Amino acid sequence: MDGDKVMDLYERNQKQRIFFNEKIASYDQVHEIYMETKKSLTDYLDKNITKILDLGAGIGFELIHLFEIYPNASVTVIDISENMLKELSKRDFANRVTMICGDFFEKDFGNNYDAVISTSALHHFKPEEKLILYKKIFDCLKSGGLF
Ligand SMILES: C[S@@+](CC[C@H](N)C(=O)[O-])C[C@H]1O[C@@H](n2cnc3c(N)ncnc32)[C@H](O)[C@@H]1O
Repeated sequence: MDGDKVMDLYERNQKQRIFFNEKIASYDQVHEIYMETKKSLTDYLDKNITKILDLGAGIGFELIHLFEIYPNASVTVIDISENMLKELSKRDFANRVTMICGDFFEKDFGNNYDAVISTSALHHFKPEEKLILYKKIFDCLKSGGLF
């Protein structure tokens, strides 16, 4: 991507950070209505998975159900909003979660994941930005891993 596009993306990502940092008080109310969809994500995962990356987990709605089904899973989360992660760290499963605070486009995703999941966190990127993320996602998955 050229310099202007990178700056534009950086600024939009910082706006997302500020938006979600300020949104904490009302987040539950707005997003609880999508809970069934967030839950259904887990139904598509292979039952043997243990190592999962969640992009933009926020306060971790989708992880509530995931840890009910996979109590031994280890989940890495990347999220740009420090306030969302602060809420996530209050969850009773927080000790099974490695939290990385930062931008998807800047942070290393790690490797060898059985699955990468994401709910309500990638839809706002432009197609060419999604391609960058899809490549990072592909590269961090095990052979046969699932997104
Ligand atoms: C709508 S919330 C979704 C939270 C959760 N996955 C859910 O479904 O309830 C979107 C999350 O993506 C994070 N996010 C947005 N853009 C990001 C970026 N560029 N890098 C990292 N996290 C980002 C936000 O901070 C926010 O926590």
